[in-house]
Amino acid sequence: MKFAYADPPYIGQSKRHYKDHEDYAGEVNHQELIDRLVQEYPDGWALSLSAPTLKEILNMCPDDVRVMVWVKPFHAWKNIRPSYGYEPVIVRGGRKANFRTEDKKVLGYKDWVSASITMKKGLTGAKPERFCIWLFEVLNVRPGDTLDDLFPGTSVVSEMYNWYIDQYKDVATDLKEATKLNKQDIRKYIEEKK
Ligand SMILES: C[S@@+](CC[C@H](N)C(=O)[O-])C[C@H]1O[C@@H](n2cnc3c(N)ncnc32)[C@H](O)[C@@H]1O
Repeated sequence: MKFAYADPPYIGQSKRHYKDHEDYAGEVNHQELIDRLVQEYPDGWALSLSAPTLKEILNMCPDDVRVMVWVKPFHAWKNIRPSYGYEPVIVRGGRKANFRTEDKKVLGYKDWVSASITMKKGLTGAKPERFCIWLFEVLNVRPGDTLDDLFPGTSVVSEMYNWYIDQYKDVATDLKEATKLNKQDIRKYIEEKK
């Protein structure tokens, strides 16, 4: 199956956060992006966005999407109360699976994930490893699938995808084991593969 993850600059934030980045190309046209996701990735895709833009972006989506949530126990404060402590993730499709009790240990058995923001990657909006694992489990990826990371930034999502699929092959049991590894083990593995 062929999946995509789109993590564009959030509406109204592109210039502010990314004007000095080599892949900066102004505001992203979200309607065009969603149309592309629907057409090119019928197996499934996910799109990250900011909470204030949820209504605008959801209106651009087909009816069969689901709104999932990334909860950020540690997040930026901007003198706004309540603070923005979560981000929506719009998901369409994914490999179908029935709920099994043993799936409970897998992060992606539910429609939300809790993961603090990452400060060390040097890019605003870089996604934490735990978020990536959750995303792959929500889409229910398997070896042989592809995941196009349309706005790579730090490339952590693609790196994590390769790591995750490799775990799948190496462990050859199930991915509950992979999610037990700590962040350092994951980074070490990724560095060794470079
Ligand atoms: C939210 S970040 C992606 C973060 C990435 N998922 C990660 O975890 O590192 C968005 C990326 O899109 C780039 N970008 C900015 N404007 C763009 C545009 N108009 N088209 C494509 N990419 C753009 C930014 O420079 C940045 O690298």
